[in-house]
Amino acid sequence: MSGFASDWLALREPLDLAARNREVETAFLENVPAESARILDLASGAGSTVAGLKNYFHDPVEWQLTDYDPALLEIASTRWQGGADCIVTSRQIDLSKNLEQLSLSEVDAVTTSAFLDLVSDCFLRRLVNFIVEARKPFLASLTYDGRASFAPANPMDQVLGEALNRHQQTNKGFGPALGPDAAQRAIELFRAAGYEVVSGKSDWEIDGTRGDFLQEFLGGWLRVGREVGLEASALEAWWQDRVQRIRSGELSMSVGHVDFVAYPQMRRFS
Ligand SMILES: C[S@@+](CC[C@H](N)C(=O)[O-])C[C@H]1O[C@@H](n2cnc3c(N)ncnc32)[C@H](O)[C@@H]1O
Repeated sequence: MSGFASDWLALREPLDLAARNREVETAFLENVPAESARILDLASGAGSTVAGLKNYFHDPVEWQLTDYDPALLEIASTRWQGGADCIVTSRQIDLSKNLEQLSLSEVDAVTTSAFLDLVSDCFLRRLVNFIVEARKPFLASLTYDGRASFAPANPMDQVLGEALNRHQQTNKGFGPALGPDAAQRAIELFRAAGYEVVSGKSDWEIDGTRGDFLQEFLGGWLRVGREVGLEASALEAWWQDRVQRIRSGELSMSVGHVDFVAYPQMRRFS
């Protein structure tokens, strides 16, 4: 098990779909064949990248989905198999160990979403080399970048946000994670390898109607606050305040993400 519950991925997917950066996606599509495209998606979870991109293609896309967690791959396959607009295959793989077993010669592009912040600098360099050697375009959507703001704010928000960002840099199975630095580091590595990069924000804008999401999301903040030993009474007071405002529908939040596409120079399809 990867620790990413399908319920959690389903809760966040509408926010992800609304946040995905259209300019970045357009630049990606210019680097992928419009017909019979074959796309390898890394760390697919329940198949959210397919949901984000499928409406752009008129022709069926051949998707190869990959993830460590067979239960999530099963959900993704059930969800997308049999549709007229995509052909889906899935492969269970531990990317931290076996990334290079994937064959990039059989695909036109590589995608991922909500994944790069989990990986280490060492893995990121492996990933960039792997993609650059095969000269494939790469779309990375929804990498958390460390920004978070609340309305109305609470003085503890910032303390907790900083604790969360430090926690994001602990080992998530790939060695010390890049967390909020991941997208910028990946962009730097692709540019150093001679790739073009188009990037933009893809922030979650969460309003008071998404109390279900906020309660779950901030419950995660609370757990991190406890784990790193923040002062218990201040933490409890923060949680009571946030829950009360969630219940009354008055709490909204913005969470910073970055999307980017990296592609070899001189390889455009339109
Ligand atoms: C935050 S979820 C994102 C899932 C999906 N891309 C999305 O946007 O909803 C991170 C995904 O990374 C996968 N993952 C984590 N470690 C992995 C590993 N070592 N190998 C393959 N997949 C892994 C998890 O199983 C999970 O599905």
